[in-house]
Amino acid sequence: MRKKISLIGAGQIGGTLAHLISTEELADVVLFDVVEGMAKGKALDIAQSTSVDGFDVNLVGTSNYDDTKNSDVIIVTAGVPRKPGMSRDDLLGINLKIIKQVAEGIAKTSPNAFVICITNPLDVIVMALQKYSGLPTSKVVGMAGILDSSRFKYFLSQEFKTPTKNINTLVLGGHGDTMVPLPNHTTVNGKSLKQLVTENKITKEKLDAIINRTRKGGAEIIKFLEKGSAFYAPAAAGVEMAKSYIKNLKKTLPCAAYLNGEYGFKNLYAGVPAIIGSQGVEKVVEIKLEEKEKENFKVSINAVKELFEAAIKIDPDLSN
Ligand code: APR
Repeated sequence: MRKKISLIGAGQIGGTLAHLISTEELADVVLFDVVEGMAKGKALDIAQSTSVDGFDVNLVGTSNYDDTKNSDVIIVTAGVPRKPGMSRDDLLGINLKIIKQVAEGIAKTSPNAFVICITNPLDVIVMALQKYSGLPTSKVVGMAGILDSSRFKYFLSQEFKTPTKNINTLVLGGHGDTMVPLPNHTTVNGKSLKQLVTENKITKEKLDAIINRTRKGGAEIIKFLEKGSAFYAPAAAGVEMAKSYIKNLKKTLPCAAYLNGEYGFKNLYAGVPAIIGSQGVEKVVEIKLEEKEKENFKVSINAVKELFEAAIKIDPDLSN
């Protein structure tokens, strides 16, 4: 039987997710939005491309949670995107309220689903989604690391004039200005960035500028678009996670996963490499970090903690 993926939020990312999932025939798609017409319109539009593109999945648009019942995967983008000049953190109050409604809807209709959260500020919203829904921590995960890594890879590919597929990298920490790209765990055509700096193939300054641009990757796009934030790359990253779960690929993917002692942290979500298979997050992979990387990771974790404290002030229920 074909799997079922429900997309909570049928905006820019939700619509792009629906299109990607359909063309890949990964699952039947339910597009859910409080703005019902948007969900229905996009579902119908994509469905009308099936004969041209030759794919065969069911697409439904709705504003009723019953239609999302027994989903295998739920991808959450419901929320308000950042506006120019707005930090991810400004979004917190508005998006917490929305996420509470969404979590209750999911808990009632698809308690066994694998839930991927994309709504910002990511690390805190995913934590709230897990708490509000009561779903197991292994079944609730945030999408950030794949996107951050793919931005880093893209900028490096431009610099080294080589396709992104020749670059391996990893980005740790929270999704935001404190994210931690790891040059020691990054290779271009098999050579580490450290080695490439030593060989003068790239200057330290240039590399730092690329890392900085990666950290601000989302803001750069917001500035161009003026209305709304990035959606093609975030949607592609969400699909990769859904696919690893549905097809039990057990890929190691950087994502916002629940830490229970890994890397020395407990009881919070942060960007780490995690194995995603049919059980959800099957394992958080602990890579060896250098002192400086550990320090940066801690700074990033502290930023997430601080924002979560702010969330608890808005809704004290989150402290339970
Ligand atoms: N339930 C379901 N959908 C909701 C709710 C709700 N309670 N509240 C708002 N929405 C819907 C909006 O109607 C809108 O269609 O969420 C959708 C969000 O879509 P966009 O505004 O187009 O935002 P998008 O670009 O898709 O980004 C969504 O992902 O990357 C993050 O920062 C981004 O938090 C934002 C999220």
